[in-house]
Amino acid sequence: MLFKQQVLLRQKLFVLGSLAIGSLLYLVARVGSLDRLQPLCPIDGRFGPRSQDEIPLRALQFKRGLLHEFRKGNATKEQIRLHNLVQQLPKAIIIGVRKGGTRALLEMLNLHPAVVKASQEIHFFDNDENYAKGIEWYRKKMPFSYPHQITIEKSPAYFITEEVPERIYKMNSSIKLLIIVREPTTRAISDYTQVLEGKERKNKTYYKFEKLAIDPNTCEVNTKYKAVRTSIYTKHLERWLKYFPIEQFHIVDGDRLITEPLPELQLVEKFLNLPPRISQYNLYFNATRGFYCLRFNIVFNKCLAGSKGRIHPEVDTSVITKLRKFFHPFNQKFYQITGRTFNWP
Ligand code: A3P
Repeated sequence: MLFKQQVLLRQKLFVLGSLAIGSLLYLVARVGSLDRLQPLCPIDGRFGPRSQDEIPLRALQFKRGLLHEFRKGNATKEQIRLHNLVQQLPKAIIIGVRKGGTRALLEMLNLHPAVVKASQEIHFFDNDENYAKGIEWYRKKMPFSYPHQITIEKSPAYFITEEVPERIYKMNSSIKLLIIVREPTTRAISDYTQVLEGKERKNKTYYKFEKLAIDPNTCEVNTKYKAVRTSIYTKHLERWLKYFPIEQFHIVDGDRLITEPLPELQLVEKFLNLPPRISQYNLYFNATRGFYCLRFNIVFNKCLAGSKGRIHPEVDTSVITKLRKFFHPFNQKFYQITGRTFNWP
């Protein structure tokens, strides 16, 4: 009898203990997420009148919950109306550079409660067929957000496509433009690696990087090779400068975003006139991936897809030296125009 009572008591204690631990874990998770969802202090600048700058706590809570559902297209019309959600044209665009770290930048900026990302690359301005569908088509591709939040999209092809600066200018001549760059030779190899992987997936063979990057007739750098051309940042930027003043661009150091993301993100927050909200808490180094990953709260973390951070093939050192020498004068010009100097060789 006494033994039975003891077993019952133990069972009760076990249930109570589990309940207490469960509640504690729930509370810690809530506090973790609410900690990130404090009401914002005013956002200065061009993103709307000051009186409307306060983003209510409710709005920020939705960003991680309901808003996620809305973005996936699961919202009913009634929900959208009730929460005053809108699809807004982007106030800032990550225009490139391909393989510079554009996805990491977009995802990391999306940690900010006042930023809402367009998940897909829309390719509105660089694709004639899409562009012909008109600006309303583009707007409808944007995620739902609160009027005081800013929408950001990224399509790295914009940076190198001839027609894009004029088209973006026609949409919004005061838009903010983000360009993320990496050391040009590394970027070119990363670009090649992505194409190579695509070919291998289709069981196709492909040339070695050295063969594409160096013209076999002249033994000089092959400027017809797209991966090389894309890395001549200054040439592309000069086309953009015919439409936008340099103040409307912010250059992000893609190499530093890999090793030390927070200071780079803080510079972007400043450029976008956003109050600093992204903290070290939101970024943790994942040793298995070898990259920083994102932490939204104690329960929700994510790393970028495996297609980001590929292992590059080994490239002949003489080719690397040749490419670095080739890019050098263009890099100097790029530093001069942008006012941002990098330690590129
Ligand atoms: P590699 O695959 O060459 O390493 P993009 O998104 O513009 O295609 O850029 C891809 C690059 O983003 C990757 O190039 C990777 O180095 C870089 N990157 C920067 N931060 C990253 C992160 N936190 N996780 C994964 N990749 C990151």
